[in-house]
Amino acid sequence: MKRLYFDHNATTPIAEAVFKAMSAYLKGVFGNPSSVHALGREAKGAIEQARLQVADLIGAAPEEIVFVSGGTESINLAISGTAALYKGGRIIASQVEHPAVLNSCAYLERAGFEVIYLPVDSRGIVEIPPFTAALTPDTRLISIMLANNETGSIQPIKELAAIAREQGLRFHTDAVQAVGKLPLKVDELGVQLLSLSGHKLYGPKGIGALYIRSGTKIMPQLHGGHHERGLRPGTENITGIVGLGAACQLAKAHMIEDAAYISKLANTLWYKLNERIEGLTLNGHAAKKLPGTLNISFAGISGESLLMNLDLEGIAVSAGSACSAGSLKASHVLLALGLSEEQARSSLRISIGRDNTLAEIDTLVEALCRIVARLRGRVGKVPCD
Ligand SMILES: Cc1ncc(COP(=O)(O)O)c(C=O)c1O
Repeated sequence: MKRLYFDHNATTPIAEAVFKAMSAYLKGVFGNPSSVHALGREAKGAIEQARLQVADLIGAAPEEIVFVSGGTESINLAISGTAALYKGGRIIASQVEHPAVLNSCAYLERAGFEVIYLPVDSRGIVEIPPFTAALTPDTRLISIMLANNETGSIQPIKELAAIAREQGLRFHTDAVQAVGKLPLKVDELGVQLLSLSGHKLYGPKGIGALYIRSGTKIMPQLHGGHHERGLRPGTENITGIVGLGAACQLAKAHMIEDAAYISKLANTLWYKLNERIEGLTLNGHAAKKLPGTLNISFAGISGESLLMNLDLEGIAVSAGSACSAGSLKASHVLLALGLSEEQARSSLRISIGRDNTLAEIDTLVEALCRIVARLRGRVGKVPCD
């Protein structure tokens, strides 16, 4: 059975060029970057080259990039590493953040910090007035994601960070879903901290980075040697770092054309599904969103059933986020948008990547039509044609 993959927000396959770049460091160049001999220096050189590539993609200086084990660790370092500078105070996040942010905040709440979880509008966007009203002189950090992993909605980070900056407040953005998909520059965003992850942009899993604006103090959350300027001790994951660097270089070269192509596929899919299936709702912002993300509620059908039936046909999609898939809880993101439990449970996330084709979109449409008709037939709803 040919498998079709429409779950690129969960993870992406490693690009061929990334795999090639990594291969040399899996076997041949095995030195410890901290060693002073030639093998060590070669490994160190590869890390510094990757640092340049990551920095280049987001418009940072290489010394502002710290390599970590992925998006989750990057977020933990940004949030806990900031909170560790204080004995208490306020942290501001949004209700639609990834669990890496929400659970970092919950941890700090238990440690005595006050956390404000800002609501979003019906498209998943943080609104300026409640944001401004939440800012206090004792606000230690604001952490709001750039693009949502479930709906793809893009937050007005530039505007929010500018307001925070006027009051001298620190802003972190979880850009794990945005980096490599949207052109972005840290100076234009105006943030002090930004998290990214390798496996969302055709790089390897288990590697990510935290951008720390020059002059922004952060407390390390792990203790050991002096790697990564003491901010992230431990012998470096050279293979992963090289892979992340190569993925960033590739993204820089192809992002614009990829986004246009992916967006065309997503628009075609939405158009064809609407033509053929009744009772669809697009969740999230229709325009300000990641080009390949479609989060759709199918009235009267559980997203979980759709997912299972598609999986039986070799088609991979997601119901809610990958991290919450398998749990019976309705997505906290969709509930925050104002969907009912039932509407939230009837949603499917389709995330398109650059290797998908128009023919694959047609296969997906056909499969969904068949499955929806079958499931609606079973529960007595109007079937699609
Ligand atoms: C928005 C967002 N933040 C953070 C993460 C966590 O990244 P990682 O899997 O690299 O730990 C993810 C992964 O799904 C994500 O989508």
